[in-house]
Amino acid sequence: MSIRLGDIAPDFTQESTEGTIHFHQWIGNSWAVLFSHPKDFTPVCTTELGYVAKIKPEFEKRNAKVIALSVDPVDSHKKWFADIDETQNTHMNFPVLGDADRKVADLYGMIHPNANDTLTVRSVFIIDPNKKVRTMITYPASTGRNFDEILRVIDSLQLTDHFKVATPANWKDGGDCVIVPALQDETELKQRFPKGWKVLRPYLRMTPQPNK
Ligand code: BEZ
Repeated sequence: MSIRLGDIAPDFTQESTEGTIHFHQWIGNSWAVLFSHPKDFTPVCTTELGYVAKIKPEFEKRNAKVIALSVDPVDSHKKWFADIDETQNTHMNFPVLGDADRKVADLYGMIHPNANDTLTVRSVFIIDPNKKVRTMITYPASTGRNFDEILRVIDSLQLTDHFKVATPANWKDGGDCVIVPALQDETELKQRFPKGWKVLRPYLRMTPQPNK
């Protein structure tokens, strides 16, 4: 069964570089980003993991934990960490699942056999504290991910969970938002958006980001 947005993220127990992970328990009351990479000791993956280690405080600011996976064993990950630290000028500071038995990769559909029948693609799952899958993004092995985009998506999810807005194309934290079309009551609009709004079309109303 493929995973869809809104599904409860499949739970699992698997070994990692930081010991055994019981996934739902590990997530706790945080958001979580679970991302797979094709293989240890490969160049693009080395830059990705190094970058995530550097910006881990940005995930923490958003109450989000990060965890990576590849279908290599934990021992291999640990040996590779020394290369990541040295070449990316960082310190690996988050767990990487050892998924040599492909338990998690299969559970999350991270192996796309027509792309590669043994290695995981670059999947990203953003999971909320209720353990619901809120975002899924898939990149090919040849393209390193933009982790700033993943932070941006978390910002959008956390904002739109609390205010009756959605975020437009290329929005960044602090930018104008759109008011959800379902909200039509004038009194409620004034109460929710005291800074006002612009009506470009009846269905397209822009407002300053409500929590800024
Ligand atoms: C890499 O991370 O550099 C990589 C991994 C698998 C295929 C191609 C590139």
